[in-house]
Amino acid sequence: MEIPVEKNKEYIVNIIDNGCDGEGIAKIDGYTIFISNGIKGEKCKILILKVTPSYAFGKIVEIIEKSPARIEVDCITYKRCGGCTLRHIEYNTTLAMKQSIVQNLVNKTLEEKINVEETIGMKNPTHYRNKAQYPVGLNKNSSPIVGIFAQRSHEIIEMENCFIQNPISIIISKKIIDFIKDNNITVYNEQTGNGFIRHIVIKVGIKTKEVMCILVNNGENLPKEKELVNVIKEEFENNKELQQYKLKTIIKNVNNRNTNVILGSKNVILYGDGYIYDKLGKYTFKISPMSFYQTNPIQTEILYNKAMEFANLTGNETVLDLYCGIGTIGIFASDKAKKVYGIEIVEDAVKDAIENAKLNNVQNIEFLCGDVEKTLEEVISRRGKPDIIFVDPPRRGLDNTTISNILKTEPAKMVYISCNPATMVRDLKMLEEKYEVKKIQPVDMFPYTSHVECVTLLQLKESM
Ligand SMILES: C[S@@+](CC[C@H](N)C(=O)[O-])C[C@H]1O[C@@H](n2cnc3c(N)ncnc32)[C@H](O)[C@@H]1O
Repeated sequence: MEIPVEKNKEYIVNIIDNGCDGEGIAKIDGYTIFISNGIKGEKCKILILKVTPSYAFGKIVEIIEKSPARIEVDCITYKRCGGCTLRHIEYNTTLAMKQSIVQNLVNKTLEEKINVEETIGMKNPTHYRNKAQYPVGLNKNSSPIVGIFAQRSHEIIEMENCFIQNPISIIISKKIIDFIKDNNITVYNEQTGNGFIRHIVIKVGIKTKEVMCILVNNGENLPKEKELVNVIKEEFENNKELQQYKLKTIIKNVNNRNTNVILGSKNVILYGDGYIYDKLGKYTFKISPMSFYQTNPIQTEILYNKAMEFANLTGNETVLDLYCGIGTIGIFASDKAKKVYGIEIVEDAVKDAIENAKLNNVQNIEFLCGDVEKTLEEVISRRGKPDIIFVDPPRRGLDNTTISNILKTEPAKMVYISCNPATMVRDLKMLEEKYEVKKIQPVDMFPYTSHVECVTLLQLKESM
């Protein structure tokens, strides 16, 4: 096919759809052009930035016909920041876009083209995140800054305010940066491997107001760490915006590897007891530095309640909670099930899960530490066939061994929770061999980003 566009030339196009990352999609003679920030329904003059044999990338030069969904952007770092991608679009439209992203995947991949439910949005989609992970670096004047990585880059954009983070995370991080500057503590340099602080991670219990502050450090030695701990403690006492929160713990995380992975494997408690609590529904959960905990707890309650509604437990079922983290889904299911087993690979998360069961007086649950791929078959052969399986895997979805073990076991129902609809729908296609996909419910856990969480109900074909 002859490529109908040239790099550095301008064209007028109609944006006919939005892609998985929120980008606008246009076609010239059937050839696809991805246009950042374009909204379906708009007519734009675009400049072509990159051409490949099967598609091109362009940017908007002028909007000729504007979508009614386009809104004024309220964030000064939005254009360069890699955090949100949909702040230029009115919120309800972003919810419809997310539904249609999932629907398109279903239509392309699944045998049964079921209608995806409308995305459940947030009443107030701001400052919803309970975890911030800020990289620390230097600005152009070689002064330490804290911020966020620019899109597809390791340049750090200094942050003033963030509309999706809990506001206290930036206040604490800036205080730490001031201390680093005043005491001439060097920050980590990716190229040389020298310097100390690499990241500041803040976890907040939204309901309990408890705060964990993690200083990710290049090695064991952090100069003046006692003084830094005192400065953070004093800030919680003196800063009015922090006064309703409780500094529960400060942790030094040791990471001296040349890697993009934020946390190293060793944690040293500098203050407090090393964990925070938060509440979801009627349950309290202990959260350690290494444990996964959903980042939008308001929507998590909605997501888990939807998962429970889909499971429709009667009290007689044996339930498996695969990729169980700190045990949240299994504990939510426990009062409607006969027995629950959770499997999780991170040892600290399993320890939290066991404590969480005790904390909530849940006695019919057991947690096992292991890789689902390697342990599921044995768990089923020793503990018996489950009636229902919840899965909530990481973004890469399920592996083939796990899918074939589930297909062999034939639980009557599955509830698949996923933060990546592309891998979820890929897995659903394989599960369609024995299961009917009954419902897919998107839940907006990540407002103004292109990410969408889904909860899906599958029912064994023979059991229907
Ligand atoms: C998306 S999180 C879900 C956690 C939990 N269900 C929740 O809602 O908080 C995925 C979890 O899977 C765990 N995990 C990743 N790979 C795993 C594997 N191969 N086997 C078991 N657990 C795994 C991660 O540590 C993480 O806790």
